[in-house]
Amino acid sequence: MLKIAVLISGGGSNLKALLDAADDPDFPARIVCVGSDTDASGLDHARAAGVPVFIERPRDAATREEWGERLAAAIRQHGVDGSDDSLVVSAGLMRILPAGFVRAFSPRLINTHPALLPAFPGAHAVRDALAAGATRTGVTVHVIDEGVDTGPVLRQEAVDVRPGESEEDLHERMKQLERPLLVRTVRDIALGELELPGAG
Ligand code: GAR
Repeated sequence: MLKIAVLISGGGSNLKALLDAADDPDFPARIVCVGSDTDASGLDHARAAGVPVFIERPRDAATREEWGERLAAAIRQHGVDGSDDSLVVSAGLMRILPAGFVRAFSPRLINTHPALLPAFPGAHAVRDALAAGATRTGVTVHVIDEGVDTGPVLRQEAVDVRPGESEEDLHERMKQLERPLLVRTVRDIALGELELPGAG
């Protein structure tokens, strides 16, 4: 059974989709902890499901790398350690993970991003796609490497942009595809049907 740590910063609708999926005894993965860099409202989804939560604030650490070490220690306490039966899922974590953290967990460290990478990396992907006049964007689940949204793509799904659509409306439509895409990707990793690049 795959053990998953989920990292969030916001409302956690992707986390909720994973928690709901893992509620099914036939789902091949369990969420063992949920962490955040802030007092994210989405942590309540984990609390309601009885999943342990932790907050590691970057400002409580002397350096970014030290923050990463604290985050890694909190995750390891729950048995997620980068080995083949574990996975870290960044689902709306709005921070760049420090290099030491990435080295410790990648490639068993994935992220969901609201754009068709390599287009529109970074923190404002939906806004950037609209500003560029894109008529098509989408969602990507990828392995996290030491760059910003540069790691190997695992799965993508495209969305047509509607004329005059707001960032909020477009992002919400994208999330409706993103949630099941993330759940399917995690399931396929758990079943060994989707290989992580460079994994043992
Ligand atoms: C998701 O759309 C995710 O792709 C995005 O934040 C949203 C979180 O939604 N992540 C990024 O933009 C990372 N650069 P949620 O809190 O409702 O799951």
